[in-house]
Amino acid sequence: MRTKIKDILHAKKIVGQTVTVSGWVRTVRDQKSFAFIEINDGSTLANLQIVFDSSLPSYAELLPQITTGASLSVTGPLVESPGKNQALEIKAQSIHIHGPCSAERYPLQKKRHSFEFLRTIAHLRPRTNTQGAVLRVRNALSFATHLFFQQRGFIYVQTPIITGSDAEGGGQMFRVTTLDPMAANKDYSKDFFGKPAFLTVSGQLEGEIVACALSDIYTFGPTFRAENSNTSRHLAEFWMIEPEMAFADLPADMECAESYLKFCVKYALEHCFDDLEFFDKFIENGLVQRLQHVADSPFVHLTYTKAIEILLKAPKQFEFPVEWGCDLQSEHERFLAEEHCKKPVILTDYPAQIKAFYMRANTDGKTVAAMDILVPKIGEIIGGSQREERLDVLEKKIAAMGLKKEDYWWYLELREFGSVPHAGFGLGFERLVLFITGMENIRDVIPFPRFPGSAEF
Ligand code: 4AD
Ligand code: MG
Repeated sequence: MRTKIKDILHAKKIVGQTVTVSGWVRTVRDQKSFAFIEINDGSTLANLQIVFDSSLPSYAELLPQITTGASLSVTGPLVESPGKNQALEIKAQSIHIHGPCSAERYPLQKKRHSFEFLRTIAHLRPRTNTQGAVLRVRNALSFATHLFFQQRGFIYVQTPIITGSDAEGGGQMFRVTTLDPMAANKDYSKDFFGKPAFLTVSGQLEGEIVACALSDIYTFGPTFRAENSNTSRHLAEFWMIEPEMAFADLPADMECAESYLKFCVKYALEHCFDDLEFFDKFIENGLVQRLQHVADSPFVHLTYTKAIEILLKAPKQFEFPVEWGCDLQSEHERFLAEEHCKKPVILTDYPAQIKAFYMRANTDGKTVAAMDILVPKIGEIIGGSQREERLDVLEKKIAAMGLKKEDYWWYLELREFGSVPHAGFGLGFERLVLFITGMENIRDVIPFPRFPGSAEF
């Protein structure tokens, strides 16, 4: 039976025990009387060293086929390694090559490749150290997400991917249709769903439906935005976690969001330490210390109005000018989190006109009970709010924003039949992975990124 490299290195398999290990060759060093082969199986960052002795009968035939990228299984006893880079190695008794790999054609040779180049070979990039580490951290953060919400008694809900409603009221949606794309004057009443349909931008509105029955719920699914944002923080397809809590106000929402972020950071520090050390060494120096600081200290709270005052006094020239009522740009968000507060900041009470229709109106008549969490390097990582639960106020807002009441009839009925104060937020999963790995570009923290002009794999 095959043993994973992680189990050998972390579970401390006993020296002398015979094991079978399978993986892909990273390097081969021919020392004449024997060869060192390093293999990796993706279970952990570390490779396992194999000593292949020339006294084995298959040596001369197999060695030329053991090249970088080839896949193989090795059986032999685990022995203590005299080398300084590893504690254990395998003394091969037999080697089976599953798939050879052309040394001339294989693109992943020893040198470090740029992340841009690796995106063009998304079918091979999971075999690099960086992408392997990203995917293991991503996996751990998915698990941590379920753990956090399940421990708090939240119910996991699957909301639809194809939808007829625009949850953010922003209109940046991909259309889903079976009508002839070439036809002029399309009649959507004859389309598959009998009306226009889109890929969802958020599961929130459906999440609210279920929260208004089961109290605390969360979604974790793909979301789609057709905005033409060619930035290192935007994807056309990204994953979002959206908790929604009935009988909750904005302070409860902020408490949940801060605890969740900290839980994820601590979980990664505890369960992915090898990978985080790798990111600390090669991607962002000081990463582990930064994460420990995030886990240990309370987030800063500021109102939007106060943030505007800080930005107006900032000793910095921004590309986009600042005034009360403007939507904050990434440069403003990053200044607040990175330079002014030097830690995550929760901004609250944004002007109503720059936020979605569903956010609860404050008594000042100008702002809404919104909160965004901004973090160093990234800017907005979480967006949330208390929801408008008052039917008359919500109807007026929908009209004022130029949206059609008929499109939201069911959302309005929730306010008619046993309405409750409720609140929730959305966390962009890839932005969380950026934050925790220190990676620079969102296209490198999802295995198959979708962005304008790119959907090859
Ligand atoms: O602020 P957003 O648009 O909020 C919502 O969608 C609400 N329905 C959430 C809620 O209250 N339930 O998006 C939430 C988060 C952002 O803070 C950001 O982290 C991420 O989703 N996000 C993106 N991530 C990658 N690419 C994009 N194009 C993103 N747009 C938003
Ligand atoms: Mg937002």
